[in-house]
Amino acid sequence: MSDSHSDALVFFGATGDLAYKKIFPSLQAMVKRGHLHVPVIGVAKAGWNLEQFRVWARESLEKHGGVDPPAFDTLCGLLRYVDGDYQDPETFSALRSELKQAHAPAHYLAIPPALFETVVEHLAESKSAKGARVIIEKPFGHDLASAQGLNTVLLRVFDESDIFRIDHYLGKRPVNNLLAFRFANTFVEAFWNRTYIKSVEITMSEDFGVQGRGGFYDQTGTIRDVIQNHLFQVLSNLAMEPAVRFDSESIRDEKVKVLKAIAPIEEKNLIRGQFRGYRDEHGVSKESQTETFAALKLEINSWRWKGVPFYIRAGKCLPLTCTEIVAKFRKPPSLLPESVLIENHLRMRLSPEVTIAMGMMSLAPGEGLTLQTGEMVASRSPRADEMDAYERVLGAAMAGDSSLFAREDYVEEAWRIVESVSKKNIPIYQYTRNTWGPDEAARVSPSGGWSNPTAGS
Ligand code: BG6
Repeated sequence: MSDSHSDALVFFGATGDLAYKKIFPSLQAMVKRGHLHVPVIGVAKAGWNLEQFRVWARESLEKHGGVDPPAFDTLCGLLRYVDGDYQDPETFSALRSELKQAHAPAHYLAIPPALFETVVEHLAESKSAKGARVIIEKPFGHDLASAQGLNTVLLRVFDESDIFRIDHYLGKRPVNNLLAFRFANTFVEAFWNRTYIKSVEITMSEDFGVQGRGGFYDQTGTIRDVIQNHLFQVLSNLAMEPAVRFDSESIRDEKVKVLKAIAPIEEKNLIRGQFRGYRDEHGVSKESQTETFAALKLEINSWRWKGVPFYIRAGKCLPLTCTEIVAKFRKPPSLLPESVLIENHLRMRLSPEVTIAMGMMSLAPGEGLTLQTGEMVASRSPRADEMDAYERVLGAAMAGDSSLFAREDYVEEAWRIVESVSKKNIPIYQYTRNTWGPDEAARVSPSGGWSNPTAGS
């Protein structure tokens, strides 16, 4: 493993959707902040030259975030382009020449997983892997066996410390803020356990569909697309123990322990849904059984959480775009009648706003014994100059900081948990767009039902 900063960034899949939507905006932002000074070499098979590649970069920025002329000019000066087939050794000889004196490049594979093995082998053969790091886009495999296979391929050529598996949720500040909230505030520890918490629910709702990615999505589905990775990362931050040291391995050790304490999801604890009209999307099979919504329940068999159900729900074409956590507290041993008491809750919104709200009971105005819920809210909107998650993770990978990436054992544990249900032919229920998924989702829900996020904060 090298401690040095990567001295070139190579990105495979340079003419793809991810590059267009996320990578160019992040690269321009890195340049603007003074964080990117090394050659950026795009590799793809489009029959283009460097000038066409630069035009494409400009177009991407016009659509996604805007062109910042001075930063864009600098970025253009850093851009290089290699055109060629990933199966062809010539492509990699051309890449090796383009790398010139670079001795510690970072290779970012923003390509379909089926191509990873070929590219990694060619990188090794062409001596472009020496001293290098490799950054892998999700999904990392499609089940436990394929993730293990992929790891074997990568580990043949790279050290684990030089492999950076992207889950862009790890680059989101509000996701990391969960750890700050838990471990920088003494009072949280007093209630954040099975004695006081009755259930925890995590909702990731999106008010849009598959946005032209039907071909990819139909092979993937909600569980593999966002639950096995993004929402498990949120879950790990919520449930992990404090790390004994503040380094990437100590933190990642604690996250892995959370997943190890979770049994494979049982079929009875999962509801899958599909929005009406999904099968008409481009690239989607007319008989598709792929879920665009999933609601599930799991338990963490740890000292802290045993007996506390965790509910996770995610879906496309729901009423609004929001990621939110609601933890419900057990009722106090009050002398007030059970029916009068409403549960206290802790609500943590990760996007679009960043909110932490404590829901509490107080006497309602008037004379009767009626309680009302009020929230004590700490909220902020993301700052305009806040780093995007992709900018943060790319910067971290090039600096060799592993803490924002998923480790091999973590990814494998995550697959183990969902594998049982992602392979079975579990019923799928249709739902109408702009609703909270199929009615059947109520069968796997916290007592009192799901807490649906509302627009605002
Ligand atoms: C991606 C998924 O990984 O995450 C998409 O493939 C999803 O389907 C996206 O929409 C959500 O990311 P964000 O950052 O917009 O919450």
